[in-house]
Amino acid sequence: MSTIQKMPPERTTDEELLHTLGYKQEFKREFTSFEVFGIAFSIIGLLPSIASVLFYAVPNGGPVGMVWGWLTCSIFIMTIGMSMAELGSAAPTSGGLYFWTYKYASSSTRNLLCWIVGYANTLGTVSAVASIDWGCAVQVMAAATIASKDQSFVPTAGQTYLVYLAILATTGIVCSLATKTLARLQSIYVVLNIALCLALIIVLPILTPSSKKNHASFALGNFTNLNGWPNGFAFFLSWLAPAWTIGGFDSSVHISEEATNAATAVPWAIVGAIGVSGILGTAINIVLAFCAGTDMQAIVDNPIGQPMATIIFNSLGERGALALWSVIALVQYMMGTSILLASSRQTFAFSRDGGLPFSKYMYKINSFTKTPVNTVWYSAFLAALLGLLVLAGPSATNALFSLSIIGSNIAYSIPIAVRFIYSRDTFQPGPFNLGRWSLPIAIIALIFMTFVNILFVFPATPHPTIATMNYSVVVAAGTVLGSIGWYYFPVYGGVHWFRGPIRTAESEPSGSSIGRGSTEEKSKGDDALAGTMSQKSILPDQP
Ligand SMILES: *[C@@H]1O[C@H](CO)[C@@H](O)[C@H](O)[C@H]1NC(C)=O
Repeated sequence: MSTIQKMPPERTTDEELLHTLGYKQEFKREFTSFEVFGIAFSIIGLLPSIASVLFYAVPNGGPVGMVWGWLTCSIFIMTIGMSMAELGSAAPTSGGLYFWTYKYASSSTRNLLCWIVGYANTLGTVSAVASIDWGCAVQVMAAATIASKDQSFVPTAGQTYLVYLAILATTGIVCSLATKTLARLQSIYVVLNIALCLALIIVLPILTPSSKKNHASFALGNFTNLNGWPNGFAFFLSWLAPAWTIGGFDSSVHISEEATNAATAVPWAIVGAIGVSGILGTAINIVLAFCAGTDMQAIVDNPIGQPMATIIFNSLGERGALALWSVIALVQYMMGTSILLASSRQTFAFSRDGGLPFSKYMYKINSFTKTPVNTVWYSAFLAALLGLLVLAGPSATNALFSLSIIGSNIAYSIPIAVRFIYSRDTFQPGPFNLGRWSLPIAIIALIFMTFVNILFVFPATPHPTIATMNYSVVVAAGTVLGSIGWYYFPVYGGVHWFRGPIRTAESEPSGSSIGRGSTEEKSKGDDALAGTMSQKSILPDQP
């Protein structure tokens, strides 16, 4: 669908392009194109992610929610990915969304919009860390239940939270290691991920007893609605599964400054990861629907507490299920390291510009590991706090999952929209460019994200109590409104000093730098940005 344009000759080296965008090279460029795809794909972590959110699809539509919900939603997610890929190709920096917002918004709106994107993105990545690691903790507990005598072990929320903290702490240590180690790990993640998907697709149909095997009419056509929402609405709620799973693909953008050939590698990593996940995810859901038996209520109510673990247990028996499930939990754990890595890079970029509280202490590269160790632990700490929500009640867990979708959708929507609102004529596409399809695809993506954000603040069942309330609306609105309040705060608020992305490149074409300095310096910085844009212009009719 995309048309590939020839790269302009002046963009041959990554460092030069980054310098044009106003940043000096601080990271080592350790990630190859495959590894950039790897980080997006391993964060999507297909099979373990489906395991984490299957509890959403099974009661909201059953087989139809699982299979058709997945397929339809992934197509819409692809429109977000394609719009983002264009931006990632035009300006690959670790600031990503936040940098694009600055670059493409108008001079009167850019600071505030950048600020909101920075906070929404931080919320999105931190809740992604929280939900993935929480999913992993639940998987560990499901394994304990499967292994216990007659599946009698039922963990408390407190016990699961302790496992969750242990997972956060150990992934924090892994993410503090040298970039090279992490880069090499990405390939292992991808291979394990795909092997796991194929193993399930092949093994499950072979070993499922015929009593649990379903006819095609059931696996592809039965609509089971257990939570009490109207059917159509229930179907859309099943979208939470793919929307959560196929998320975090902006992670590839956050490592742009560590990637070789970033202007091509980053967009293709995004589109590739979504495409593979859409197709492979549909296949996995079809296999599950064929092997689940017809009693969806029993799958939801099983003491194992994990629909996919229950399906696998019913098909493979205790030992087989434990073996497969351990690998699933391990891959989920690896996904936790990838998302924490991405989250730390995002908070690094935002603190580079002073956006987050305690930025001064966060914006530091550890001299030994050459990684931003402080932001790794900052993200882990925030995720630990957010995880406390699960102690409010079993359904409060939903908030972790919906928050990561809502946070990232807000952060994704703003740069995609401002590019067309304010920079329609000046936008200079990178090598990945959709041409005249850009605008229609972006409009579909924006409508979809808005719809999904409204959808996911609804509670799991129609009449919520304190324990089943969806707290995502409280946290999401709190973050967005809180960040706006903090922005306009007298004296200390961002409006007094926040100037968007700070340029770190030493010698600019016009000798100026964007920084937290005086407004005069700032406006010169804007000129420099405009200057480099027209210098590097691809279209001949640019000013
Ligand atoms: C789906 O399957 C369940 C269980 O067999 C059945 O009770 C229900 O009527 C089916 N629904 C549809 C729409 O076919």
